[in-house]
Amino acid sequence: TPAGTPKHFLDLDRFDRETLRGMIESAKAMKRGDSPGGDPRPLGNKTLALIFEKPSTRTRVSFEVGMRQLGGEPIVLEPSGMQLGRGETVADTARVLSQYVDAIMLRTTAEEKLLELAEHARVPVINGLTDRTHPCQLMADVLTFEEHVGAIAGRTVVWVGDGNNMATSWLHAAARFDFELKLATPDSLQPPQDVVDWARAEGAAITVTDDVEAAVTGADAVVTDTWVSMGDSDETIDQRRKDLRPYQVDERVMSLAADHAIFMHCLPAHRGEEVTDAVIEGPRSVVFEEAGNRLHAQKGILLWCLT
Ligand code: CP
Ligand code: NVA
Repeated sequence: TPAGTPKHFLDLDRFDRETLRGMIESAKAMKRGDSPGGDPRPLGNKTLALIFEKPSTRTRVSFEVGMRQLGGEPIVLEPSGMQLGRGETVADTARVLSQYVDAIMLRTTAEEKLLELAEHARVPVINGLTDRTHPCQLMADVLTFEEHVGAIAGRTVVWVGDGNNMATSWLHAAARFDFELKLATPDSLQPPQDVVDWARAEGAAITVTDDVEAAVTGADAVVTDTWVSMGDSDETIDQRRKDLRPYQVDERVMSLAADHAIFMHCLPAHRGEEVTDAVIEGPRSVVFEEAGNRLHAQKGILLWCLT
């Protein structure tokens, strides 16, 4: 990172292991009730702008509340109420907002917009989800896995379903947190090959298969996500549902995983599509703890970006 570059949180592949591990451990400490450096308001007088070009429940509320709990101030901006929504460029928006706020979180469609924001902002930019990745969610997911199963290094996580933005961030995480990742996806919805290649080159054990049963056997965690993401075009929906039908996580699939295996999902979930009601409401499901951990993970990210 060139000197003077703000401490952006763009994607996990841009970080080294130690930095990400530090954010996870600081999130765990804050969850236990520790104040960072003994300061109950480490982000006092700091302001975070949150720009949402797509809907959000967890990301929005966990960032807002997390910022307040650290003594800072969040401002939520909807593009429809901004000049950004009527054509002001991302680059200009970045240069203006950088003079008012201390960090900017963006949830958007195209990754190019996030990168443009980061290029022109003089303050840290946080990726709140794009069509390509969702790194903040992975920080909460690693935290959740470790609370339930133990250290994630050397474990096996199985992704079942669409090779989407969450799958890409799981690939980044496998390389940075040293676990094995198996992705069971239909041929039509495999994760990006360049990211699979990258993770393997970084030393991660990655399997991509269309065989759910083989992938899930012995897994420490089974993870899935919606069959239709916010960026997916309406024309593809029927085909996606057809291709993904054999990839529903049900009790039979979960029974193949290790006895201690957990079920994870970033939410929102669609019962009867990617997961059955019995699994998501069942004893192995940690989806609500996972959602709750977004708050603690965001605080770890915010603290790193802003101090
Ligand atoms: N998991 C997640 O990012 O949820 P939201 O879309 O509600 O923020
Ligand atoms: N893959 C989903 C994740 C939502 C948090 C989407 O992009 O809509």
